[in-house]
Amino acid sequence: MRIKEIYNLAINKGIETDFRGKEGIEKLLKRRKEKYEKLSEKEKDEFDSEALENPYLDSRIYYISEDKGIKKVLVGIDIEPAELLIAKEIGGIDLIIAHHPVGKGLAHLSEVMDLQCDVLNFYGVPINIAEGLMRERIEEVARGVNAINHQRTVDAARLLKVNLMNSHTPCDNLAAGFLKERIERKKPERVEDLISLLKEIPEYKKAMEIGAGPKIFAGAEENHCGKIALTELTGGTEGSPKLYEKMAQAGIGTVVGMHMREESRKEAEAANINVVIAGHMSSDSLGVNLFLDELEKKGIEIIPCSGLIRVSRNR
Ligand SMILES: [Fe+2]
Repeated sequence: MRIKEIYNLAINKGIETDFRGKEGIEKLLKRRKEKYEKLSEKEKDEFDSEALENPYLDSRIYYISEDKGIKKVLVGIDIEPAELLIAKEIGGIDLIIAHHPVGKGLAHLSEVMDLQCDVLNFYGVPINIAEGLMRERIEEVARGVNAINHQRTVDAARLLKVNLMNSHTPCDNLAAGFLKERIERKKPERVEDLISLLKEIPEYKKAMEIGAGPKIFAGAEENHCGKIALTELTGGTEGSPKLYEKMAQAGIGTVVGMHMREESRKEAEAANINVVIAGHMSSDSLGVNLFLDELEKKGIEIIPCSGLIRVSRNR
């Protein structure tokens, strides 16, 4: 497979499991195109043309040194110059795949967060409330990533002549889809049942061995789960703390997330919502693994690094 084929596969897998459905994504891209057509020539010049084809602007190809058939990839959750040097040291690595965005993908992180509005709406939060509260938070994230040294890793890739891409939201969509299916099928009654369900998944089982297994951040083991919402697993990064009260009003009893800031945790607790934090690296690994399994099926060898707990479901 060529780099672009690997990349397209990631994007398409992400669309397949997107909460908005294929139709929702088509609508989003159509809207972007219509808006683009109305721009002036100068505005069109400044427009990120990839946005017309790619619904996940936090996932990109950053650098292609040599466009060849890819046989061996180094894959990690966070790729920094150190991992590029590791790739050089190991040798024979054709492509590095990061999960978290760097470069342009990181600068555009806030642009995938709209997805959270649709996810919240899917679980019963009125769309106007979700959009209103998320808008503030999206702007906060955009300002937050603004100061970062975005190009550091991309510059290193260029100097070391290493092919580099990432897949963030497509993989997070895969993790969310996997957990949603599992939870809906097993219908855990109490929080402890939900925790047991998570602990059966190999990525979380392995995370437990290093003390990073699923944890209750708010609520208690014996609490009923009520309606379980997977509002915090995909869509860039954490949403607004002001949402929890609205989520409780929408009938959500338990939220499953990857990570949660203290401010949000307190709001969830005040709203009597149970919070189960599945784990960050482990949840990221789950989503990345579901994508990597597809590459493995095509004969690509996978070397995990930087926090990726590699589990293959092909065997
Ligand atoms: Fe992450």
